[in-house]
Amino acid sequence: MSAVSFTTSAPAGADALLSALYGGELFHLGASAASRRLVDDARALLREALGDVDDDLRLAPARLPGDEFFRRMGALRRRLYLGEDFHEHLRALVVELGFDLDRVAFDPLRLRIIQGGGHHNPAARAVYYPHRDTWYGHPQSLVVGWIPLDDLREEETFVFFPEYLRRPAPNDSEIFDYDAWVRHGWSLKIGWQDPEAGLRARYPQMTGPIDPAAEVLGFACGAGDRILFAGAHLHQTRAQIGERTRYSLDFRLVDLADAAAGRGAPNVDSRARGSAVPDYVRGAPPHG
Ligand SMILES: [Fe+2]
Repeated sequence: MSAVSFTTSAPAGADALLSALYGGELFHLGASAASRRLVDDARALLREALGDVDDDLRLAPARLPGDEFFRRMGALRRRLYLGEDFHEHLRALVVELGFDLDRVAFDPLRLRIIQGGGHHNPAARAVYYPHRDTWYGHPQSLVVGWIPLDDLREEETFVFFPEYLRRPAPNDSEIFDYDAWVRHGWSLKIGWQDPEAGLRARYPQMTGPIDPAAEVLGFACGAGDRILFAGAHLHQTRAQIGERTRYSLDFRLVDLADAAAGRGAPNVDSRARGSAVPDYVRGAPPHG
């Protein structure tokens, strides 16, 4: 089998980009004007939330008591997910990629914080499960964008298992019901209130091993780089060994016509119930 690698430039036009993504192509694009602006604004808020630390933000969490760090990051997560100014950042990002805002909707920006040694925390265990984002009630047309706030080495990012796009992975995605998940508000979805929620909530995971012969594709990246992939790809966050924390932003995007028509990447094993799409933010601004 030939080795899979990243494509480093996006095809012209959203249709070509979408069909490449649905077919499994993985994109690692450099930073753009919009992604740099987004990263600058997110880092400024992060610095403010951490108490204006004047050294490395990646080492700051270790200096705060766990609950205090979680509380501050919860407020920041909420701000990045719901803030209209960050929705505008997202619109600028997708327009740069050639999308027509009238055709798309998105699940806005989530700040991911993978703490050094965080894989030892039982409340964070679901973060490290190999998974497809489609197991969380997203359609097969789901496109995921991932943007790091810092330069990261390969062992600090995440990995893809590309051949699993067309190969079932044993999993329990049937336990996931989107409507039940958000019934009591979006606290669980965005993770801004309850540090222990991860101990009680059930998240889809694999119920068997990944084939040890399956290809694993990882990457190093620069701050503001744009990773784009089909939400149906199997992927897994790496544990952060050492003290440094990893900060990244990710978002989810769908072409509404493709979602309605059932177009997208193949569904080989997702049995999640409910749909996140009605809660997506429309691409076209509400008063635009
Ligand atoms: Fe994911």
